[in-house]
Amino acid sequence: MKLLYLGDIMGRPGRETVQQLLPGLIAEQGIDVVVAQEKTSHGKGLLPTHAQAMLDTGVTALTGGDWTLHRPEIYPWLEDPAKPLVRPANYPAGTTGRGYKFVDTPFGKVLVISLLGQTVGYRQPENLDNPLVTVDAILEDTKNQARIATVVNLHGDYSSEKYVIGQYLDGRVTAVIGDHWHIPTADARVLPLGTAHITDVGMVGSRDSCLGIKTDIITRRWLSGDRSRNELETDGTRQLCGVIITVDTKSGLATAIEQVIQLVSP
Ligand SMILES: [Fe+2]
Repeated sequence: MKLLYLGDIMGRPGRETVQQLLPGLIAEQGIDVVVAQEKTSHGKGLLPTHAQAMLDTGVTALTGGDWTLHRPEIYPWLEDPAKPLVRPANYPAGTTGRGYKFVDTPFGKVLVISLLGQTVGYRQPENLDNPLVTVDAILEDTKNQARIATVVNLHGDYSSEKYVIGQYLDGRVTAVIGDHWHIPTADARVLPLGTAHITDVGMVGSRDSCLGIKTDIITRRWLSGDRSRNELETDGTRQLCGVIITVDTKSGLATAIEQVIQLVSP
């Protein structure tokens, strides 16, 4: 089975890029399952309509990050076990939504788990649980539930966290994918015990920008310290960043991982 993971889909430019490129990628590469990081509504969380648009384009499941709880309209999706969208699992107990879900695919169920790094910026709650402890508990709780693959996403700032968690889970899950940076790293590989890993997969959205945001807004803020609002860049070349993982559905481990970076004009 071939599984494609796409990094942060950054607002409308990101959604449009998915709509332009994903169907062709699925056909050309023989992709069976697509998991993508949501950030699809104006770069901050997502609305049900935008989530549905991504599913309609071929995305199987959406992982969550630091913006997932930003829009209450999506809370019913986060609560519903049948909706293929998760929030970070290491939010404090009682937080809206579910941090992992089993997602149906033609081959069987895929367990999708999202985690937030502990150094992901000012929006993180202080009482965020340790992602390693959280993922251990999820794997223990679900150990008797059949699956063909387990995909773990760590959404975080620090390369150290996103790198180390791959080593920590090697041999226990199919893939550990880092994101949130929007800049892809060049270290995609299958780890010694069979887990596919990349420190950061990159993003889907405007390339000639500051991580999807208009560059002049960011540089002005850096120069003057003003608190201007972010505005998505909609002009120029767009990029799609992902990894394609070949999954042995019997063992639930990976046999290959290949980085994908495609460019397109709007
Ligand atoms: Fe993020």
